Amino acid sequence: MIKKCLFPVAGYGTRFLPATKSMPKEMLPVVNKPLVQYGVEESIEAGLTEVGFVTGRGKRAIADHFDTNYELEHQIAGSSKETFLTSIRDVIAKGSFSYTRQSEMKGLGDAILNGKRLIGDEPFGVVLSDDLCIGDTDGVLAQMVELYKQFRCSIVAVQEVPEDQISKFGVIAGEEMKEGLYQVTDMVEKPDAKDAPSNLAIIGRYILTPDIFDIIEQTPPGKNDEIQLTDALLTQAKKGCVLAYKFKGTRFDCGSVEGFVEATNFVYKNIYQG
Ligand code: G1P
Repeated sequence: MIKKCLFPVAGYGTRFLPATKSMPKEMLPVVNKPLVQYGVEESIEAGLTEVGFVTGRGKRAIADHFDTNYELEHQIAGSSKETFLTSIRDVIAKGSFSYTRQSEMKGLGDAILNGKRLIGDEPFGVVLSDDLCIGDTDGVLAQMVELYKQFRCSIVAVQEVPEDQISKFGVIAGEEMKEGLYQVTDMVEKPDAKDAPSNLAIIGRYILTPDIFDIIEQTPPGKNDEIQLTDALLTQAKKGCVLAYKFKGTRFDCGSVEGFVEATNFVYKNIYQG
């Protein structure tokens, strides 16, 4: 039912310089797999197999990663090293990949609007691959797709965060409909802790209904003079319904060096070593 997922990947990754000088931050490996592949695997697991990237300058390595490298395949065919390619071969077999470029960085809302030509008029997922999410059982997007089937409106993933972290996130206020599920009544992008409407922070997983595109077009620049998805979602919440879902799983902020190291340790111990 939901088939498409957008990955905004135009950001510079300045916090990882010099590593990201000529390499997309999304290609930094968490153990042996690029960060973005974790997000794409989560999307495909949720049934969102049509993957659209909103890219920018210097991001071509992402397109090469989600494509067959015939020379490499030929070189290692029949050797024990073939097992190292299993996961990416699987992703390439199950997914389809499209790309569009965001020429100016005008915020997450603008990046999503750029993806309109890849999405059209249907509900879709959004993954911010900096947030590496490991679901308790199902992946976080798969949990959200199940909810979408019931409620048919936009859904944002949220997590409780400590007060000193609040100003890094979009923050929601809502009425709890059932345990861990809120009807959003307010939303603020990166508020000061004292002004935050709650401690429920938006994590980089969304299901969006396509009316969001028209709303973004009407949304003026907000925090940091950027077009904020959070502001557009608040308009959508006031017009109809936006849900916030406290997902079951763990999230690592791979946009920061500390979070990246934590994710690496976690994946090494719990996934790579089994
Ligand atoms: C974006 C969103 C923010 C959200 C965050 C999650 O911010 O604008 O609302 O809480 O992702 O990671 P960014 O971290 O890209 O500045």
